[in-house]
Amino acid sequence: MEIERKRRERRNLIVLTGAAAVLAVAVNFAFTALNTHIKNRKKKVVPGSNVRINLSASEILRLADHIVAKSKEVHDTIASVPLDKVTYSNTILPLVELEAQQFPLIQSCAFPKLVSASEDIRKASTEAERRIDAHVSGCSKREDVYRVIKAFTARGDWMSSEVKRFAQYLVQDFERNGLNLTSTKREELQRLRAQIDELSMRYIRNLNDDNTFLLFHDMELVGLPPEFLKSLEKTENGKFKVVLRSHHVSPILELCKVGSTRKSVAVDYGRRCEVNLSVLEKLEVEDCLFKVLLGFPLNCKISIQLRHKLARLLGYSNYAEYAIDRRMAKSSTKVFEFLEKISGSLTESASKELSLLKEMKRKEEGQIPFGIEDLPYYVKKIKEQQFGLDFGVVKQYFPINLVLSGIFKICQDLFGLRFEEVVGAEVWHQDVQLFSVFDLSSGELMGYFYIDIYSREGKYGHTCVVSLQNGSWINSTRQIPVALLISQLQKEVDGRPGLLRFSEVVNLLHEFGHVVHHICNRAPFARFSGLRLDPDFVEIPSLLLEKWCYESSSLKLISGFHQDITKPIDDEMCKSLKRWWCSFSALKLKQEILYCLFDQIIHSSENVDMIGLFKHLHSKVMLGLPMLEGTNPASCFPRTAIGYEATCYSRIWSEVFAADIFAMKFRDDIFNQNAGMHLRNKVLAPGGAKDPLEILSDFLGREPSIQAFVDSKAHSV
Ligand SMILES: *[C@@H]1O[C@H](CO)[C@@H](O)[C@H](O)[C@H]1NC(C)=O
Ligand SMILES: *[C@@H]1O[C@H](CO)[C@@H](O)[C@H](O)[C@H]1NC(C)=O
Ligand SMILES: *[C@@H]1O[C@H](CO)[C@@H](O)[C@H](O)[C@H]1NC(C)=O
Ligand SMILES: *[C@@H]1O[C@H](CO)[C@@H](O)[C@H](O)[C@H]1NC(C)=O
Ligand SMILES: *[C@@H]1O[C@H](CO)[C@@H](O)[C@H](O)[C@H]1NC(C)=O
Ligand SMILES: [Zn+2]
Repeated sequence: MEIERKRRERRNLIVLTGAAAVLAVAVNFAFTALNTHIKNRKKKVVPGSNVRINLSASEILRLADHIVAKSKEVHDTIASVPLDKVTYSNTILPLVELEAQQFPLIQSCAFPKLVSASEDIRKASTEAERRIDAHVSGCSKREDVYRVIKAFTARGDWMSSEVKRFAQYLVQDFERNGLNLTSTKREELQRLRAQIDELSMRYIRNLNDDNTFLLFHDMELVGLPPEFLKSLEKTENGKFKVVLRSHHVSPILELCKVGSTRKSVAVDYGRRCEVNLSVLEKLEVEDCLFKVLLGFPLNCKISIQLRHKLARLLGYSNYAEYAIDRRMAKSSTKVFEFLEKISGSLTESASKELSLLKEMKRKEEGQIPFGIEDLPYYVKKIKEQQFGLDFGVVKQYFPINLVLSGIFKICQDLFGLRFEEVVGAEVWHQDVQLFSVFDLSSGELMGYFYIDIYSREGKYGHTCVVSLQNGSWINSTRQIPVALLISQLQKEVDGRPGLLRFSEVVNLLHEFGHVVHHICNRAPFARFSGLRLDPDFVEIPSLLLEKWCYESSSLKLISGFHQDITKPIDDEMCKSLKRWWCSFSALKLKQEILYCLFDQIIHSSENVDMIGLFKHLHSKVMLGLPMLEGTNPASCFPRTAIGYEATCYSRIWSEVFAADIFAMKFRDDIFNQNAGMHLRNKVLAPGGAKDPLEILSDFLGREPSIQAFVDSKAHSV
């Protein structure tokens, strides 16, 4: 009854959007006032958090060494257990406890690297992390520990399904490191790993060091705004220097009215890293791998061959099978099927989109055929004509504080949570805030999150959520989760609170999805209770939550005109934002699918002619549009080389199943708290302790389906 009443009250609050905005801001003002008031008082302890905030450089290094020593001791003890005496308490339990206890300490050493204002501390943190990583990597290759754990799993004497999953994961991790191979094969595996890493690193370095530029007259850059031109370097004879980096390339592809400029930028951008073979050959580089790297197609070919080799050593038929084995998608065949189906379902919408673009190009440039390089320019142009959305104006509705309190409200209401600032807690910078999270109905303290969202020098340059402590049970005591959200927002502009671009708003809500997921995760072992979940699954809740940015009733909660915050975005603008987001999405997705298919094929077959394959796929998937002549598929697609091999499909996969959840549970009522609580208990709470497919099926009452996504795309033009 009590819960019901509270639910009703919350529901009423949601309805009063204007009032909610006022309330939110009042709360924010209170935060600020309190903050300054208590500045010089003693720092409050944070009960339940074992994270050490604001350690000095020497403390960080000392702690790291202590962590390594303690961990070694525990591993040695486990290794000394005779194989016929293995039990849960002398093999698994010590590891479970070690991981749970050490993780917040490890993070205490590692997170300052991302956020500390002191260079010394960032350096110490980087070094500490290096020492810990080296130790962990050594442990993952310990045959003595592997044998003991394997002996335990061989007994099949599980205490619970979670213990079974945990122990099997441990064994798989060891075996993916080659620990059940002969020592010759194991050495070969390690050699392969090292070569693959080396190639990837060199590839990244090459991309970073690539300073290729193109020169253009101002006549060739018509359409670009004066501020952009001003930001470009100029040569003596007055030409503009355009470097092949996205901050130069994207504006030109989107805005430049001169088709030939767009094309030459696209072609050269599409063959970066095929750098100067001639120049580098003169350097007498002996290392053949390094030479190989100079031509990316070759590099790509070589590293793919190395990957296939590695997978086969481990008993897989190809690299894709190895990469997908432990994911929700389970097999490369499933991924193909998935991509083909989604691509097929988009064909009709994408054709309509493409004919609009072609018509527009005909009007503007006459008979020159439409090419893939024209996509960004004409998409932008048509969108601007259709929606007349001025993002400069949109931005004025998103002052940071208001957005934050709106996001808080959505997360709290939907998932039955209560956030409360921990005033006076120790932090590493005055801009950082700490919040406790309580379960609304029971009042139980569920966890904490820090937010460190304003940009400053030396800070990590991207938005992300880092787990500082994972939830777990140690000796029947619960350790609660602690998260840290890092972003790079502008705190103030000309003395006024910063305003967020709409994309930043979406991004922030997405990241809060991860925070909430982390806090609501109730998996018993630290290993399954953080955000290191199956990558095919972990983005689903956050992608789901993004949809709240496109519904007017929720968008009103996170918006308010900066000079009069009681005025949220109006329905008209909400609609435009949603249509803007949907329009041309079929073509955009097809393009992504093209790369995913390419990625999947090269990683599941041997000796593919990559250029030939890409040409074929390009025209097939992109409705007859040919590949841009002179480019090199692999270099428009740097992700192939760096950590996403054979798994590029994962983003679309998550989006598709997020759409399924939304359509089934929230589309008709985005503030449906029953559905929200249900999601929290069935999807967020199990974390990694259960198979994702089981989790989703349990929540939906049927297997997840691609239909909702397909339907939503069918009406996008
Ligand atoms: C290693 O173990 C895995 C899983 O138990 C098994 O599939 C594989 O065949 C084993 N490899 C060797 C060389 O024994
Ligand atoms: C390669 O080197 C030549 C001569 O040094 C130079 O003109 C050209 O711009 C360079 N190309 C790239 C892609 O760096
Ligand atoms: C962090 O610690 C340093 C000294 O170790 C201190 O000067 C600084 O004020 C502390 N910062 C905060 C935000 O507590
Ligand atoms: C758990 O309890 C046992 C016995 O009370 C104790 O020896 C052990 O140190 C405890 N473990 C942890 C991680 O606190
Ligand atoms: C805790 O979660 C993080 C990711 O959120 C993960 O990287 C880490 O490995 C987890 N901790 C343990 C002990 O497994
Ligand atoms: Zn994410």
